[in-house]
Amino acid sequence: MRVGILGSGDVGQALGTGFATLGYDVKIGSREPKSDKLEAWRSRAGGLASTGTFAEAAAHGEMAVLATAWSGAREALDLAPLANLAGKVVIDVTNPLAPGPTGPGLALGHTDSGGEQVQRWLPDSRVVKAFNTVGNAHMFRPEFPGGPPDMFICGNDDPAKKVVGQICEDFGWSVIDIGGIEGARVLEPLCILWVIYAIRNGSRDHAFRLLRK
Ligand SMILES: NC(=O)c1ccc[n+]([C@@H]2O[C@H](COP(=O)([O-])OP(=O)(O)OC[C@H]3O[C@@H](n4cnc5c(N)ncnc54)[C@H](OP(=O)(O)O)[C@@H]3O)[C@@H](O)[C@H]2O)c1
Repeated sequence: MRVGILGSGDVGQALGTGFATLGYDVKIGSREPKSDKLEAWRSRAGGLASTGTFAEAAAHGEMAVLATAWSGAREALDLAPLANLAGKVVIDVTNPLAPGPTGPGLALGHTDSGGEQVQRWLPDSRVVKAFNTVGNAHMFRPEFPGGPPDMFICGNDDPAKKVVGQICEDFGWSVIDIGGIEGARVLEPLCILWVIYAIRNGSRDHAFRLLRK
């Protein structure tokens, strides 16, 4: 399976390493595909790992991951361009971060979300929100006391969610499907909860799990 990752930051690299470790043919896309940081990632990830432009990464994958800064998401998709992502599963990891009145906040919410905006930008792609509620260090093979944490996912296309749910499980997560892409209206604020806990406790070693009885 080939996957193209749009985004060369900590998230793109962490997910890229996870995919490469699982044997995927992964290409990270960037405006600077030959940067030192991506050369270092490529040699660390080994296997079939490669780098390219946003367009090369989007065309490379049978599936894509959007892992850019929110402020650059639309530009990265324009560079992809959109046609290279048509019909494909696109995992949206972005969070539309913006300063809030008393700390970290979101640029949109309540009646809209980044996930819905990405799906509107990519009407012919099958967008699934995932991996946005945990720090990059624990995206692949999270190890926490009590077993795997929960990865909440949402999207409008059930077969696409099945594919992404299986990937999350292969990455070491238990998966909870919360429904259509409008579920991003609650998953993106969950990222803010993760960040506030990180700031107040000076730690990034936490993840969410739903307790049931
Ligand atoms: N950091 C985390 O632990 C974490 C956890 C969950 C979700 N997220 C979300 O995941 C996304 C990626 O986060 P990150 O920390 O890995 O990296 P980031 O610093 O937020 O984003 C880096 C990426 O954004 C691209 N980018 C920035 N401005 C752009 C523009 N104007 N046009 C095109 N591309 C642009 C960069 O492209 P170039 O490669 O060309 O520089 C780079 O690939 C964010 O939306 C973040 O909120 C982050």
